[in-house]
Amino acid sequence: MSADVHPHDGDRLHSTASPGLHGYIHVPGDKSMSHRSLILGGLAEGETWIEGLLEGDDVIATAKAVRAFGATVDRASSGKWRVIGNAWRSPRGPVDCGNSGTGVRLLMGAAAGFPIEATFTGDQSLSGRPMNRVLDPLREMGAEVSASEGGRLPARIRGGKLRGISFLNAKASAQVKSAILLAGLNTAEDVEVIEPARSRDHTENMLRAFGGDVAIEGDSIRLGERRKLKGTSVLIPGDPSSAAFPLVAALITPGSGLTVRSVMVNPLRTGLLKTLSEMGAELRIEGRRQAGGEEVADITAEFSRLHGVEVPADRAPSMIDEYPILAVAAACAEGTTVMHGLAELRVKESDRLAAILSGLRACAVDARDEGDTLIVKGTGAAPRGGATVAAHHDHRIAMSFLVLGLASEQPVEVDSAAMIATSFPDFTALMRSIGARIS
Ligand code: S3P
Repeated sequence: MSADVHPHDGDRLHSTASPGLHGYIHVPGDKSMSHRSLILGGLAEGETWIEGLLEGDDVIATAKAVRAFGATVDRASSGKWRVIGNAWRSPRGPVDCGNSGTGVRLLMGAAAGFPIEATFTGDQSLSGRPMNRVLDPLREMGAEVSASEGGRLPARIRGGKLRGISFLNAKASAQVKSAILLAGLNTAEDVEVIEPARSRDHTENMLRAFGGDVAIEGDSIRLGERRKLKGTSVLIPGDPSSAAFPLVAALITPGSGLTVRSVMVNPLRTGLLKTLSEMGAELRIEGRRQAGGEEVADITAEFSRLHGVEVPADRAPSMIDEYPILAVAAACAEGTTVMHGLAELRVKESDRLAAILSGLRACAVDARDEGDTLIVKGTGAAPRGGATVAAHHDHRIAMSFLVLGLASEQPVEVDSAAMIATSFPDFTALMRSIGARIS
């Protein structure tokens, strides 16, 4: 079986005004489902075959972690992986989750269900992110937990016989919900997560595919009696959060017409498509079908005259990773776009609210924040651009500003683009293949 490695993009990239973008493309597999397929496969009895796995750095870190917990994890060919689960054992050294909040939080939950000990670490960005949101409920369930100051990594967990929990997921975090559900697989007690606002439901869907039972009634999500997972086949469709970049690039680059095929369109992930449609985007969602337990479709975007809109706070969970690229669309739209309820953006791979603001301002776009609200004044024409934007080693900030440069008067440079490999390893090559001038 071949090695799980792939090349990195160069660290500095810039993009320049491009002719219309055209083509029929696929984006890499969904990141959320990729992490979950490896972890659930590692917990399940028997063999799991995964097709379409995102082979980005974040997911590779999770694959290595699942292996360190004692499961067999092999890469058969591009995107095709085999996992054979096992009762988890204490890993020999620290589990390095790289840049991935999803990886570390889900793994901490899964590990807490076993009578083992593990230390979790991450890169500089991940080490600055809050973990108490997961560690507190795991403590409440009976895990012994210690972490660095402020609930940061490195964190150590000793799991074992866990109690049940009824947890109010006030932040609408799918990572927190998933950690609790995964920890709960190894107890017979009641495990419930209450979600006033629904977060992405891939863990629930995938638990069912692995033979588990999860009851969803109103805002309550409960593990049922069947908690022993059985290996299965998982087909991972295109990541809507990655599709967002070429789609918005087409919407703001005059003369474009582009189709992204087989994108997951789970309604808990499509807030961006709804918002862009409200902004006047020419988007067509066609060929809706089921694949791998999720709805997928082909999405076509054509250059559009966008206008500003107000985006309500309750839409944030369904597009939480898409605000950087939405802000880019807003910068090119006519009029003001107001995005409410963005507190969670401050604790992503970077402080994304700050990174968006400083990047837009560097490109001469009028933008400001008021508390958790981001306000972008678009001009309805090409922004000036002509700046080096600090990406703060954040993949989505880097990709967003490279997209802005395609529709700007002057080139936009991004100071750190290597992290794009965490979620979208072939971003630059794929964008070039549709005519984007990125080098
Ligand atoms: C994810 C949940 C979201 C999202 C992240 C992926 C997941 O984070 O931002 O990129 O796969 O569960 P939160 O759970 O912090 O909202």
